[in-house]
Amino acid sequence: MLNYYMQKQAISFELNGKKETVDNVSATTTVLEYLRSSGKTGTKEGCGDGDCGACTIALINEDIDGNKSYQAMNSCLMPIAAIDGKQVFTVEGIANKTLHPVQQAMVDSGGSQCGYCTPGFIMSMFAGHYSDQLSDESIEGNLCRCTGYVAIRKAAKTITKAKSNDKFAKKLKTKPKANKSIELALKGHRYFSPISLNDVFIYQAKYKNAVLIAGATDLGLDLSNKRRDFPVLISLENVAELKQINESSESLEIGAAISLSQIEHKLAGRFDVLDTMLKFFAARQIKNRATIGGNIGTASPIGDLLPVFLALDAAVNLQNANQKRAVLLAEYFTGYRQTKKEADEVIISVTIPKKEAGLKRLSHSYKIAKRGTDDISIVAASFVIDLNKENKITHARLAYGGVAAIPIRAIAAEKYLLNKSWSKKTILKAKEILLNEFTPLDDLRASASYRNSIVANLFEKFFVEVKL
Ligand SMILES: Cc1cc2nc3c(=O)[nH]c(=O)nc-3n(C[C@H](O)[C@H](O)[C@H](O)COP(=O)(O)OP(=O)(O)OC[C@H]3O[C@@H](n4cnc5c(N)ncnc54)[C@H](O)[C@@H]3O)c2cc1C
Ligand code: FES
Ligand code: FES
Repeated sequence: MLNYYMQKQAISFELNGKKETVDNVSATTTVLEYLRSSGKTGTKEGCGDGDCGACTIALINEDIDGNKSYQAMNSCLMPIAAIDGKQVFTVEGIANKTLHPVQQAMVDSGGSQCGYCTPGFIMSMFAGHYSDQLSDESIEGNLCRCTGYVAIRKAAKTITKAKSNDKFAKKLKTKPKANKSIELALKGHRYFSPISLNDVFIYQAKYKNAVLIAGATDLGLDLSNKRRDFPVLISLENVAELKQINESSESLEIGAAISLSQIEHKLAGRFDVLDTMLKFFAARQIKNRATIGGNIGTASPIGDLLPVFLALDAAVNLQNANQKRAVLLAEYFTGYRQTKKEADEVIISVTIPKKEAGLKRLSHSYKIAKRGTDDISIVAASFVIDLNKENKITHARLAYGGVAAIPIRAIAAEKYLLNKSWSKKTILKAKEILLNEFTPLDDLRASASYRNSIVANLFEKFFVEVKL
């Protein structure tokens, strides 16, 4: 039974400080479509698929500890129902008699020519400004075709620390509202936003055509580009059980619906393989929304977190209304985008076992793509090697994405490495095995032989770069 819920026939949110109620669009209309059709045309559309940042807006979000911050997001990928109850900011709402310091810095540095990308850059910088994290990385998800990045980066560098008493900073100090499950019915579409797993299962049982949605950075492409209709969506964004990090002496469990930005921040320094992959995982706007559950949920052979979790021997925790079970990630993928997850199961978390005491762990992730950041992997790799005091390999995990129909471990090379010394000779022999371990595809991004050589060469790079 649902305990604490609210039924609504309209979405209500705050836009640039003013209450807005919307009942004449479908729940899957994107935030960008809504903004532009209602005259807020400062927010631009470039690609419509999360790549250019022209549509960037800022939202006040709460992290898993209840702390609020401004976060930049791509409005082209967000269904409007996802902003129900939120405080949203667009480029029209940040100047106050005078330009906002972020806007002023762009003017002073000559950071805008045609101006098409400018609102998106401004909103990314605005969010970074109030998080005290304004850097090149804050604007990695924004493309500019004409000004060039020197002037824009200069603007980002000259912006001084946010004033803690300005009106935007003050908004971050307000108390969080009590949570309840929301049932939205809009133009024949239903969008449920439950606060507990139990409520998720109730909605799933009632609506067999319901689709789960988390950050929508993958599903959002279906809305934005493919114009796919989703009559019933169940959002996992507010489900308490999926937003926890639990640690015991044996393992660490990470909730499926925590955003990747929060994971990056909360678990920094814990797992080198995760830190190094998250650095190359999309841009800030995407990481502010994307989740682990969604990355595993897509079951893509080029999902970048999948080699990371394979290398860490992680298990996927699944739950439906009747039972909970754990499946090792190494056994989870059964074929191209096929998994052991049943249709009624929700990915609730991943569990990473801790390493055996007394061993030295060497680990790192690599992502090879056509661009350094914000691009799709050609090959991704995560390596974990444990050494004993005699420098012998006691545990080896070499996991790859982009080389088979599923994310996969190099089992033959791992077997060879066991009990060998961590030496150049061992690595060169392992490279020979790795060159023939997989039969990847030739495709638009790379040839099979190029992929095979990356598989082997990345392991040698790891040997050369990792510090003993
Ligand atoms: C511009 C751009 C850049 C990107 N860059 C990268 C990248 O560098 N590396 C990479 O790996 N991916 C990348 N992606 C893909 C995407 O961001 C990731 O796969 C992300 O982790 C998806 O998470 P999400 O929460 O947004 O999932 P959603 O889009 O909400 O959902 C994706 C799928 O998973 C299902 N799902 C979600 N959560 C659960 C759950 N808890 N239980 C069961 N099913 C669930 C949904 O039903 C849906 O089928 C990129 C996407 C874009 C648009
Ligand atoms: S329009 Fe390009 S990221 Fe949204
Ligand atoms: S100013 Fe023209 S695209 Fe950036």
